[in-house]
Amino acid sequence: KQSSTCICSIRNMNKILLLGPPGAGKGTQADIICKSLSIPKISTGDMLRSAIASGSELGKKVTDIMNSGGLVSDQIIIELILDRIDQADCVNGFLFDGGIRTVGQADLCVENSIEFTHVIEIKVDDDVIVDRMSGRRVHPGSGRNYHLVYQPPKNEGVDDMTGEPLIQREDDMPETVKHRLQVYQDETKPLVAYYQSLESKSSLKYIAVDGSQSVEKVFEDIEQNF
Ligand code: AP5
Repeated sequence: KQSSTCICSIRNMNKILLLGPPGAGKGTQADIICKSLSIPKISTGDMLRSAIASGSELGKKVTDIMNSGGLVSDQIIIELILDRIDQADCVNGFLFDGGIRTVGQADLCVENSIEFTHVIEIKVDDDVIVDRMSGRRVHPGSGRNYHLVYQPPKNEGVDDMTGEPLIQREDDMPETVKHRLQVYQDETKPLVAYYQSLESKSSLKYIAVDGSQSVEKVFEDIEQNF
């Protein structure tokens, strides 16, 4: 059950980045925050999976790297992002669901004048993550996430909104998850220090929350610190 609370006091344009390891709950919280603030969710993971499903040139380029849990090149990511935030629905802000994963990508954002108002880090230990990933089920069309135990769909195996079948992601196999966690430590974790240090030099607000709590409680903590 998702929280019905909303971040009502926020009136300014919000450009939010969610940071955290695979399975931390970025996608789950992204859906709640975006609904609350009426801003679009931008998930590079969903965009890349759509490219693979459509059989496009981009999809062919990234299939192997994604299925093995590696990172797609910074150049591909920045082009995807710039193209996406140029669309009309981003005029009042947006939320990146984990879209920035290397210091190179963060630098490219700065170079292209993408300035985040909030960076929200969702912290979760590795053992909790492996458990979450094995039970995750996804609606491929929308990227909506479920968990067999912690966040089950209303009807088994199908999406609540569309009734379409849910799938298990290719990169959610235990060995691949371990590799993704290592990639997070090596490539993405340095962004914690990167954005914390930006906080003192800009108007950016850095928020860290304990992602091992219930979905509702994690959102409550984000809301209180926003
Ligand atoms: P992406 O799709 O973004 O995956 P990820 O970052 O690894 O994160 P996940 O989607 O796996 O997890 P999440 O944190 O969203 O957790 P969720 O809410 O689903 O990226 C996939 C791949 O694309 C990358 O590996 C890379 O190859 C490529 N890519 C994407 N962006 C890139 C970039 N910028 N640069 C380079 N490559 C890039 O939750 C997980 C499960 O837990 C769910 O089942 C959920 O229901 C459950 N859950 C969530 N919160 C809770 C809670 N509080 N309590 C109990 N269960 C919970």
